[in-house]
Amino acid sequence: MAYRCRECGYQSPKWLGRCPRCGHWETFQEVGEGEGEGESWIGARPQALAQVERPPRERVSTGFPEVDRLLGGGLIPGAVILFGGEPGIGKSTLLLQLAGRLASTSGPVLYVSGEEAPAQVKLRAERLGIDSSELYLLSEQQLTRIVQAIEELGPRVLMVDSLQTMVARPEGGDIGGVAQVREAAAHLARLAKGLTMTCFLVSHITKGGEFAGPKTVEHLVDVAIYLEGTREGDLRILRSVKNRFGATHEVAVFQMGEQGLVEVPDPSTFFVPRERPPRPGAAVVPVLEGTRPLLVEIQALVAPNMGYGPPQRRMAGLDYNRVLVLLAVMEKRLGAHLGSTDVYLAVAGGLEVREPAVDLGVCAAVLSSLRDRPLSRDTVVFGELSLAGDVRPVRQGPLRLREVDKLGFRRAVVPPGPLPEGLSLEAIQVATIEEAAAALELS
Ligand code: TYD
Ligand code: MG
Repeated sequence: MAYRCRECGYQSPKWLGRCPRCGHWETFQEVGEGEGEGESWIGARPQALAQVERPPRERVSTGFPEVDRLLGGGLIPGAVILFGGEPGIGKSTLLLQLAGRLASTSGPVLYVSGEEAPAQVKLRAERLGIDSSELYLLSEQQLTRIVQAIEELGPRVLMVDSLQTMVARPEGGDIGGVAQVREAAAHLARLAKGLTMTCFLVSHITKGGEFAGPKTVEHLVDVAIYLEGTREGDLRILRSVKNRFGATHEVAVFQMGEQGLVEVPDPSTFFVPRERPPRPGAAVVPVLEGTRPLLVEIQALVAPNMGYGPPQRRMAGLDYNRVLVLLAVMEKRLGAHLGSTDVYLAVAGGLEVREPAVDLGVCAAVLSSLRDRPLSRDTVVFGELSLAGDVRPVRQGPLRLREVDKLGFRRAVVPPGPLPEGLSLEAIQVATIEEAAAALELS
């Protein structure tokens, strides 16, 4: 049994005289079993696809254009969003910033913290310049009391920081354990649907695995986003890994500063400093994050092994095994003497690059360091390399080319395949690693 407001649709398990959301009096009506839980669509009769009504899909801006883009054009009211990331990466900061903006545009936001006292959150809010009369704070871990607060306040948006601190049932096992975390997430997701209340659920990823991580609840949510970055660096990447309302694998880039997280509005060139003079060992590659091309700089240092044991192979942001294969291909096909040298590789800016398009960039950076010859700063390179030394086409080659063309690069060393029309840069198509080395003047 449940009750629903005639005016705004707000639901409550008990009859209320005044609707906490829209403020109207005497508007609560009884609704049937099941409906009150917000799952009236479950178990209904089969419907012809053509007869099924499309849900209303008005989107609400988060106030962060890049986050809106990541979500597929803004927030869908009633969506349940899982927000994961390692401790200390900036989840609470971004959540509070989102809470501040949504409170001033969309109405009451309830920010529940199971980790911090309201006074602590207040201090952070002040530092972040957040001051909205529609933002409500609650420090609580007991789910029943959170549900009560939701009923009283009728928020449009609920933020829970974090799932791992929630107690769904007193006898439900350890706090932060799989059972508690799952039950809390499932309960809140159901509530969010029933009340058309957008819901953000923070979840910690820990290397030690002492908590039930976000993966244990990903199936319960509409959208899953993860905040990544190096804790030492100020760079943060927000990535969507699941989105029932839009494309996945999109990213938004932020910088952490005194004022919290600030969007990087045009991240494509952000990772590549173009002002510096060319240096040996650096190659620029247009990689794709979702549908967005980002330029990254692959940095290599090839140095003689000092004779204390086997040659070193160290890398950051690249696939270790993949790089070993690339080194072997270069040794074999180009006669590059890498067997007795130390090789260090990094992706500038702390990014992780896992796509095969970076292969040719790794080779270019290694060869450039080995030969001590810099690549021109207006050249980019991309392509996958086979074990035989053939250069293979990669996903969305033309899109990458158009982007680097727009950014003013003059030359691109690329795999064979169709080229976009109207490029002003020179695209040099190479079919083998030998041709690539020749085109880059690193043979
Ligand atoms: P926090 O949001 O608490 O991380 P999480 O919730 O993911 O555990 O942020 C952690 C770090 O961010 C903390 O070390 C301080 C830093 N920080 C800033 O650099 N600038 C800021 O404006 C804020 C609020 C935090
Ligand atoms: Mg936190």
